[in-house]
Amino acid sequence: MNLVDTSDLEGALRRVYGQIPSGVLALGASVSGQLVGMAVSSFSTVSLDPPLLAVNIRNESTTWPHLAKSERIGISLLAHHQGEAGRQLSGPDLGTRFTNIEHVVDNSGAVFLTDALLWMDATHYDSLEAGDHTIHLLRLERTAEAEIGSPLVFHRSRFTVVVEE
Ligand SMILES: Cc1cc2nc3c(=O)[nH]c(=O)nc-3n(C[C@H](O)[C@H](O)[C@H](O)COP(=O)(O)O)c2cc1C
Repeated sequence: MNLVDTSDLEGALRRVYGQIPSGVLALGASVSGQLVGMAVSSFSTVSLDPPLLAVNIRNESTTWPHLAKSERIGISLLAHHQGEAGRQLSGPDLGTRFTNIEHVVDNSGAVFLTDALLWMDATHYDSLEAGDHTIHLLRLERTAEAEIGSPLVFHRSRFTVVVEE
């Protein structure tokens, strides 16, 4: 094992972070009648009481300011077959992120992907600057779980699946 100092890694840090497998969330909201959303793999559960989830968002994200305007954010955990949706939700055109992706617009304004594994309706709780990203704490107000299904996994910049032993 040859440990390299992070100050020498620069671009390679993306690769290093990419070694850590994660699930993929779709964040979505209806803002003034427009659907806005993005894929997020940098997230973690934080607290049970209050129920908090953290999502780490690039400071230069042009999508987040739209999501920030919404009182509610829909969070969907993508299922193994939703890789295409994950790609589309990170595409360059904010206006077409939900095109041809089955979704539900909740009365609250939260937008959820149909066929996901887990749905969480969240409000903004707090945020913390963290380098070139900001940690946004979202408070989970309502949740629902699918009965079956396995998650989409993001690993080494690719979508993969959980292999059951
Ligand atoms: C699998 C995957 C995971 C992503 N995770 C994050 C993330 O955790 N934080 C983030 O800010 N952007 C993440 N992105 C990028 C956003 O989905 C989206 O591409 C980006 O916000 C687009 O730029 P914009 O916000 O300026 O529209 C991810 C993209 C993909 C495909």
